[in-house]
Amino acid sequence: MASVLLTRRIPSSVLSRLEQAHEVDVHYGDAGLARDELLRRAADKAAIITVFTDRIDAEFLDVASRLRVVANVGVGYDHIDVAAAKARGVAVTNTPDVLTEATAELTWALILAIARRVAEGDRLIRAGRWKGWAPDFMIGTELRGKQLGIVGAGRIGRAVAAKAPAFGMTVAFAARGKGPREPGTLSFDELLVTSDVVSIHAPLTPDTRHLIDRKALVRMKRSALLVNTSRGPLVDEDALAWALGERLIAGAALDVFEREPEVHSALLTMENVVLVPHVGSATRETRTAMADLAVSNVLAVLAGKSPLTPV
Ligand code: 8YV
Repeated sequence: MASVLLTRRIPSSVLSRLEQAHEVDVHYGDAGLARDELLRRAADKAAIITVFTDRIDAEFLDVASRLRVVANVGVGYDHIDVAAAKARGVAVTNTPDVLTEATAELTWALILAIARRVAEGDRLIRAGRWKGWAPDFMIGTELRGKQLGIVGAGRIGRAVAAKAPAFGMTVAFAARGKGPREPGTLSFDELLVTSDVVSIHAPLTPDTRHLIDRKALVRMKRSALLVNTSRGPLVDEDALAWALGERLIAGAALDVFEREPEVHSALLTMENVVLVPHVGSATRETRTAMADLAVSNVLAVLAGKSPLTPV
């Protein structure tokens, strides 16, 4: 029997699978563990089930010196120093696939919401500002016949693309790197110039930080919409607020932010921006499946087997 730290609660049906095999220490609060508390509680653990709000760096790994596995509940692992873990013989796992559809569905919810001004209309009605139907009132953008530009052709990007024909949209992917281009892909610049909706599905790495900066935003169509359900720092929020303020693009819909839960103050005041609080994977089905996969990864490593989904 080993000892496992869970930095967030998980569904009890999933937790009981872990409890049958190991001793567990669960942090039940809604807010994440403070750094010193995280270090203190991880110090004697063989496994940690973590989320993206915990920083798993070299300092953490030195303190948690008995650790055998870091099991992330989430597909993005930019909060984990994977090289430092590998150097200490600690396995790192994530939860790909199980959250693909939920995130793709939220992406479409955001595309439709920003194109058809759903959140803006909801705010207007609730504020008692609806004066009645008018011919040119709340006019949005139709998706049919438009191009959806996908940045990041991984599982989620492809799942978003798969739903585009249902809305009559064509899809373009941005080519990776400078190597030979796959058929059907555009250069990043071409994708920005020609797309009506640009949706970001790339991981956060040193190369993708501020991928959408002033230079990228000025290339986009003035009628274009930007959607981000990946990681906040892929978009330079100062640049985005500037581009929206200058009407260089038509709108944005964001699930993720540079300094969560803080949101750029200018974006908060703009009607042509849809904001949702990092809920890409937040369905009952998906969150249960994510926890289940993280537990399976921990059980495998602690049993001396290979993890199911190593990063
Ligand atoms: C999670 C996510 O809510 O999977 C990801 O990368 O951003 C979300 O699905 C989050 O990671 C929890 O750790």
